[in-house]
Amino acid sequence: QAQDAAAGEKVFVKCKVCHVAEEDKNKVGPSLHGVIGRTAGTHPDFKYSEAMVAAGKSGVKWDEPTLTKYLHDPKAMVKGTKMTFPGLKTDEDVANVIAYLKQFSN
Ligand code: HEM
Repeated sequence: QAQDAAAGEKVFVKCKVCHVAEEDKNKVGPSLHGVIGRTAGTHPDFKYSEAMVAAGKSGVKWDEPTLTKYLHDPKAMVKGTKMTFPGLKTDEDVANVIAYLKQFSN
């Protein structure tokens, strides 16, 4: 699956209502700056659902495979997540938005 960060920036318009990636700023959702490699539910200043904290404690770390699963169907992967977003429909959109997020992670 080829990744296209520029296309991913367009996909990210759907996420922007609730998330920022360019900087470490929380909105309705936690900042996604540096999210790649972060353990789920661990931004220090964000109040997560118990489900997201539990996911992190059980070992979920955000990388390509886990983000791919979550972004296709958030509630299926983290039952009880308070992210009210139905998920992205296509593999292409998911891969591209991850490529976009990678630009803001080490
Ligand atoms: C959590 C990505 C759309 C609200 C998260 C997390 C990721 C993510 C990776 C987990 C972060 C962490 O563990 O620190 C995305 C992407 C989106 C998107 C890539 C677009 C494709 C949205 C939208 C909303 C939203 C539109 C608001 C309607 C939230 C909230 C959480 C969250 C409230 C915390 C969930 C919890 O504590 O259970 N998002 N998100 N997200 N997101 Fe999103």
